[in-house]
Amino acid sequence: MLHRAIEAHQSGQLDDAEALYRKTLQMQAGQPDALHFLGVLCHQRQRSDEAIRLIQMALRTTPQHADAHNNLGNIHKETGNLVEAEACYRMALACNAQQHDALSNLALVLEAQLRPEEAFEVYTALVARAPQLGRAHYLMGMYLRNHVNEIEDVERAIACFRNAIRCDGKDVRSLDALGVALYMLDRDEEAIGVYRDWLDREPDNPVPRHMLAACGGDRVPDRADDAYVRDVFDKFADSFDEQLLKNLDYRAPQILTKALIEVLEPPAASLDVLDAGCGTGLCGPLIRPHARHLDGVDLSGGMIEKARLRGGYDELVVAELTAYLQANLVAWDVVLSADTLIYFGDLVPVMSAAYAALRAHGWLAFTMEALDGDEDRFELSSSGRFRHTRSHVERVLNSVGFGSVTITEAVLRKEVGKPVIGWVVLARKGAVARG
Ligand SMILES: C[S@@+](CC[C@H](N)C(=O)[O-])C[C@H]1O[C@@H](n2cnc3c(N)ncnc32)[C@H](O)[C@@H]1O
Repeated sequence: MLHRAIEAHQSGQLDDAEALYRKTLQMQAGQPDALHFLGVLCHQRQRSDEAIRLIQMALRTTPQHADAHNNLGNIHKETGNLVEAEACYRMALACNAQQHDALSNLALVLEAQLRPEEAFEVYTALVARAPQLGRAHYLMGMYLRNHVNEIEDVERAIACFRNAIRCDGKDVRSLDALGVALYMLDRDEEAIGVYRDWLDREPDNPVPRHMLAACGGDRVPDRADDAYVRDVFDKFADSFDEQLLKNLDYRAPQILTKALIEVLEPPAASLDVLDAGCGTGLCGPLIRPHARHLDGVDLSGGMIEKARLRGGYDELVVAELTAYLQANLVAWDVVLSADTLIYFGDLVPVMSAAYAALRAHGWLAFTMEALDGDEDRFELSSSGRFRHTRSHVERVLNSVGFGSVTITEAVLRKEVGKPVIGWVVLARKGAVARG
């Protein structure tokens, strides 16, 4: 019966598995494996308190069970109890020093507790004890890439990702990480090889396809493909706020809303506002005092879900921005967009749609990454994001009808320790629509 329960559990039939674990426990009260796996299952079903009780019961009978300590640690980690999680991983390792999952989890939990030196020691031990384990090299590479002190750290990270791929030929996650590390060192030619390799393994994956173009290995699209945006941001949604605010010093929402609020009337909750590419909703609370009605639109369902949890929006829609604007004529007084048009190369369709979606005297306010130079042009950089020159942005806005345009320069965030310079753009629709 336990065997059948485990099989059902492994194949994702959680109702059947739970019933079978419970039957096993009726037949043999306290059976430690049934308690342990039922605990894991309860956690999967968001019943983490019950899960912890069950695994603790199992451990009373089998206190040397390294996997059970490790799984208990995972539940504590995922419910935010990092201190308890660390203790569980240490117990797992005391029971079995070869429990590599517990060792990698211990390193991750030390890193999450902002103890990087200790984490580094544990990653080093993991690579030494399990040199054939791709995950060990991948985690070490990520650690080095995320804690860059000198250029050699990125070189070391690159070596780790290459080792990870050697250990596990199916490890596309390391190919992804390798491509980013090569970008950090401006090694576009090598990155092209990595993305081609990834595409050979996953021909339908939009991420290597986009990144190959970004590194100069394929035709540049007019804007990032919808599938690429969805894939990247659905995966990024859980860690977006932490990554951008803590690690990348992201300020676009603050800078943009500050510039916009300076030209608006004092806040009177009187405007209909669209947050275009709202992501996790960082702009929402900043513009809310001015909004009678606040809409948010984004291609990524994962990001929209985060914005919904943050609250403050009247309506949140999962849709492609240009199409959504085109479907809503003369609908808003303000369309604002922080760091979303960096996924658009050709700005004409989205800007003319924004113009048509605004009411007379309406404001379009957005940030984007700056491309140096006086020429009228844009490029897809090897970061995967588009950059536009000031004169290009100005010309496109004028061409679609915006009479009054101001563009200022600002630091929007950091990348690889360096400031990312962007444009903060305010454009106003006149009293009489053109065209
Ligand atoms: C860097 S995030 C910025 C999110 C938010 N504006 C902020 O400042 O925190 C870019 C967002 O643009 C969205 N996005 C990119 N291209 C889009 C498109 N064509 N239509 C709708 N959303 C898009 C992404 O899904 C992502 O949430």
